[in-house]
Amino acid sequence: MERIVVEPPKPGIKLVEGSEPARGREEFLVETLEVGIDGTDLEIVRGEYGTPPTGEDYLTLGHEALGRVLEVPGKGGLQAGDLVNPTVRRGCGLCVPCKTGQSDFCFTGLFKERGIKGLHGFMSPLFVETEEYLVRVPPDIREVAILTEPASVAVKAVNQVLKIQERMPWREEKSLGEKKALVAGAGSLGLMATFLLRSLEAEVITMDRSPDDCRKSELIEAMGAHHLNSMEVDPLELAKDFDGFDIILEATGAARVPFHLTRALATNGIMVLLGVPGRRVSVEVEASEIVKDMVLENQVVFGCVNSNATHFREAHKYLKTFLERYPRELKEVLSHRYPWREFENAFEERGKDVIKRVLVWQED
Ligand code: BGC
Ligand code: ZN
Repeated sequence: MERIVVEPPKPGIKLVEGSEPARGREEFLVETLEVGIDGTDLEIVRGEYGTPPTGEDYLTLGHEALGRVLEVPGKGGLQAGDLVNPTVRRGCGLCVPCKTGQSDFCFTGLFKERGIKGLHGFMSPLFVETEEYLVRVPPDIREVAILTEPASVAVKAVNQVLKIQERMPWREEKSLGEKKALVAGAGSLGLMATFLLRSLEAEVITMDRSPDDCRKSELIEAMGAHHLNSMEVDPLELAKDFDGFDIILEATGAARVPFHLTRALATNGIMVLLGVPGRRVSVEVEASEIVKDMVLENQVVFGCVNSNATHFREAHKYLKTFLERYPRELKEVLSHRYPWREFENAFEERGKDVIKRVLVWQED
């Protein structure tokens, strides 16, 4: 069985031959249909991130997957033929969150992540997994189900924001109408966050380095958000016109950006950091001003990573809502599809209209 691998910390990506996975007693055999490529994969390919399984040289890449169940163990609710999204993280087995299906909050750091840290990912024709980590996909969202993993990370982040803002009990949090949100970074995570915040009625500005005349910008505007080119507009200037942003989602992965953006927060505002910087970066900051604003304006900045099966299920519901409200825009996110053997082209693809790249193992 051929699999697409990396050899961290060496940069590069290649195909190697390996044996077919053996299904354990409690495991399901799943055929891979599609695997998405995101910023984390690109970092791993650059050699900046990623760890192979203990004792092995290679790591099979890929953590955003859509598959179809081929073989089932004796028991379990999933049936052969079911579409599934595997989750990414596998718990440490020691801490309370990991023992209760919430390894996204693992305390020990001994968790593993498929395709990222210590476990092979999904860029191979077959994989095995236990039911706990396979989330059944409703067939009516099949077309966009490869977006579930990034959507689930956005769901967790927005849920956490809303939970933390319960510190302001007078606020009507069901709808985010009139709340001003800034999404920094418009990779798949930033885009899923944009869809999510728009579907909750927030006023959304999404910034990234793309020019205004690209498809990404056009689809952001079409869903009633605004796209800004961060090469041309300084978010701090922008924040002045808005009296600051109530919510900021930072998903650029550029380490200096969050320090800059704290100054764009509104009074009582909240910023969630989602990007994982690759390279080591030091920056000089105006510490006194940042701290003063944060204290005097009751602001919150927090980090948020990963997602669990509950967030995947919620992401499925949101994807259905997005499909109803913004069908064309949502489908356009999936801008580049490649037969998996063309993975090298997929990883090399550049250009202003590249939004989401997906490797395809099997069409329906
Ligand atoms: C994945 C998360 C993962 C994180 C850190 C992200 O790209 O979507 O599931 O926890 O990387 O490794
Ligand atoms: Zn744990």
